[in-house]
Amino acid sequence: MDMALRNIVKDTDELLHKKSRPVTEFNQKLWDVLDDMAQTMYKADGVGLAAPQVGLLRRMAVIDVGDGIIEIINPEIIETSGSQTGQEGCLSSPGVYMDVERPMKVTVRAQDRNGKWFEVKGKELFARALCHEIDHLDGILFMERAKEQQGTVVKVRRIPKR
Ligand code: CO
Repeated sequence: MDMALRNIVKDTDELLHKKSRPVTEFNQKLWDVLDDMAQTMYKADGVGLAAPQVGLLRRMAVIDVGDGIIEIINPEIIETSGSQTGQEGCLSSPGVYMDVERPMKVTVRAQDRNGKWFEVKGKELFARALCHEIDHLDGILFMERAKEQQGTVVKVRRIPKR
């Protein structure tokens, strides 16, 4: 199958501040997009990529923190515990890193590419990636989380070009 790199939407784009819609069709078109997202994430040296970052307002993301790829479609966080604070970045915000507090462990319920529901538990970096990518599906960027946690609620919208 032909895979293709997709352009990664930058954080200055309104699209990244919108809520994504559920995925309802589990077909070849979806699989092609997921394959492209994986290729785009690896090429950019990222550990996660959400559909809005390739211009699609659909509730899905790919993650690979070094243990193999996982695709999460229509994901929901169903349980969290503990907390961790660490530096976070995003392929849509090149060169920007900020401390963000996240749960130490999360349990996520999601569908796979065939529509089958499953549960996945993540801790440490994997938990952070799950939270970060699911935030993208609600139009929330990691810098907004960081700033909220520092007590300043800021919607990141127009950032000068670096
Ligand atoms: Co991101």
